[in-house]
Amino acid sequence: MDVITTHTNADFDAIASIVAAAKLYPSAKKVLSGSCEAVVKNFLFQNPQGILKSKQISLKDIKRLILVDTREKRRIGKFSQVKDIPIYIYDHHPNQPDDISGNRVITKEYGATITILLEILRKKRIEITKEEASLFCLGIYEDTGSLTFPTTRKEDISSVLWLLKKGADLSFVSSYLNTAPSKDEIILLSKLLASTRVYKINNIDIAFSFLKIDKYIGDLAILAHRMMDIEGFSCLFILIKKEEHIHIIARSRIKDIDVGAILSDFGGGGHPEAGSATIKERSILELKRMLISRIRRNKRNLLFLIEAKVPSFLRDFIDEASKLADEMKVSCYIIGGFVRDLIMGKVSKSLDILIVGDGILFAKKLSERLSLDCIFHPKFKTAQILKNGIKIDIATSRSEVYRHPGALPLVKEASLKKDLKRRDFTMNTLGIFLNKRGKGNLIDVYGGCDDIKNKRIKILHKKSFIDDPTRILRAVRFESRLGFKMDRETEKEAFEAIKNGCLSQISKPRIRNELWLILSDERPQKAFLRLSKLGGLNFIHQGLRVNKNGFLRAREALLQASILEDEIDISLLHLLVLVDSLTKEEAEKFLFRLRFSSKIRRDVLRIKEDKEILLFLKNKSLKNSAIYERLNKMPLEGLVFIMSKTRSIIIKKRVFLFLIVLRKTSLYLTGDYLKKRGIKPGPIYKKILRELFYLKLDGKIKTKDDEVKFLDKFLKS
Ligand code: CTP
Repeated sequence: MDVITTHTNADFDAIASIVAAAKLYPSAKKVLSGSCEAVVKNFLFQNPQGILKSKQISLKDIKRLILVDTREKRRIGKFSQVKDIPIYIYDHHPNQPDDISGNRVITKEYGATITILLEILRKKRIEITKEEASLFCLGIYEDTGSLTFPTTRKEDISSVLWLLKKGADLSFVSSYLNTAPSKDEIILLSKLLASTRVYKINNIDIAFSFLKIDKYIGDLAILAHRMMDIEGFSCLFILIKKEEHIHIIARSRIKDIDVGAILSDFGGGGHPEAGSATIKERSILELKRMLISRIRRNKRNLLFLIEAKVPSFLRDFIDEASKLADEMKVSCYIIGGFVRDLIMGKVSKSLDILIVGDGILFAKKLSERLSLDCIFHPKFKTAQILKNGIKIDIATSRSEVYRHPGALPLVKEASLKKDLKRRDFTMNTLGIFLNKRGKGNLIDVYGGCDDIKNKRIKILHKKSFIDDPTRILRAVRFESRLGFKMDRETEKEAFEAIKNGCLSQISKPRIRNELWLILSDERPQKAFLRLSKLGGLNFIHQGLRVNKNGFLRAREALLQASILEDEIDISLLHLLVLVDSLTKEEAEKFLFRLRFSSKIRRDVLRIKEDKEILLFLKNKSLKNSAIYERLNKMPLEGLVFIMSKTRSIIIKKRVFLFLIVLRKTSLYLTGDYLKKRGIKPGPIYKKILRELFYLKLDGKIKTKDDEVKFLDKFLKS
């Protein structure tokens, strides 16, 4: 079943978009994801439009999800839980880093989403009724403030003209636009106006209003507009507290203040002119202070994000690095993936610090000051510190010369700009300045921020993949991990580089390292399929095939195994899936060629050797001791892999029996006890203890007494 849905608290643009989308997907069910605005509820009561409630739909029946007027996971209620089905998106909101990626995404920053859909209906010459024309018109009027909001585009206006031609009834539209405020709204408005304070921030007047309520009130957006009109505010933040939540609504008529971007740092979002967010467990005062500091620092300063997202031990480290940089009179930056991830709201597991000056000396002083161990690589002018499991690289700003493709580069000190220029993708050239004179300032020389916003992977120069072909493997990994896509030129260069055999020039250990990183991803199949499309999979191993289902099933088994407390190496599990189609000999060759460690080779081959394991575990009469004997040799990842290969309940039960009970079973008696009983030490110890242990596994003996009795019997015999 196909389902069309929209954001919770649906407005008329959302409803109009559902109805219009249903004309493109006629067999799809039209469904609300949650509640809707009061006036919309009223409308639907009289004109149900065949729209269902979310509880009428079972998630497992959905084969495709069509989202309109949103692509935010947290705004679509239970539909955020759908898995592994195609998602199509039609939306007019600006990009947010954590947007649902979707298999077909049509986004245009028009005043209303319905305008996007109308363009498609018009192109496809799909006819609409007069009633539909009126509803669509209402959607546009509502979201563009009757075509007056600054978000209104010429496309919205031309859609309205077309709808009027199709018979849209403006008196119907105005009857729902509800321009006269209700009594409740007037009371609310006066409370909000009384609480308003205006602050001068960066020379701009910004109004803040505060209110505590105990029941929900609709249509705050309209109230915000009224307040701006009445008082002439050009930028307004309304903070409404209800229980532990604070709901923020913001409006801006000032170009320099993008309230959507500001509120996206608080987990919300919106447009430059209008935004909202809901925050838990903060006081109104705290939030006001955070908002003011966020506005003051403007969007090009990321100190705010560091304070909000980075754990305190790492913040202390960053502060110490920043102090030392000033003392040593060198420039210091956080650089690369950490900044990329931070902008996307995540904290990366590695931190790269770049010093324009002597990086090695800086690392030495910093590690001494913080009493941390440091490893130096003078040849590359870099050093490495480990802190609470986070890898911190300190490098000297440098340029690199590649003697031949795939080789490690020759290194020479250079300016920041040159250092950034040698990097792989624009999104990895971002920096955060750490010296006091501009602490937190974002350095974005190559438009990386914009590329992150547009989910684009872009090389800095044509020769990038030839200089370092491992970047092709990085590109497919980032595509799959971040949901980004190479731009046309980058894709073309990757394709050409692969065609010219660049991948065969990378050293085997480097391929192995990159492969391991791809395998550590939740869904490595995406990266492998992409590499295969680019013609590069054979360079990893001739004849390697990507078993998409195998990876999906491994993921399911991994979820099932998550009840265990053991740490499961997801890369190893995925490696087992990857080599599943190879024979034992082929797998052995592959692992050896890529210089995998002897432990990993052993672990993989152990699984490969036991081809009959599934058949064995299916055997009707199996003793626990036999299960133990066979499974105890396997690595944990191998057992998860075995579970992923079967649908048989009995096999899964037996693997779990081994994991949860058998492997944790132990005897009360030990070698010391045997000694005390006067048995002469020798191989007999192992024999007795093993026999005892197997009897215990099979439930024949249970207590310490049982064990002693067995021993007595044994000694008599
Ligand atoms: N880099 C590069 N070419 C490579 C590898 C790395 O230009 N082949 C640069 C990128 O600027 C990258 C930085 O070195 O951001 C640090 O590399 P690394 O820590 O490997 O990658 P991250 O970008 O931090 O990504 P990840 O999240 O995988 O750690």
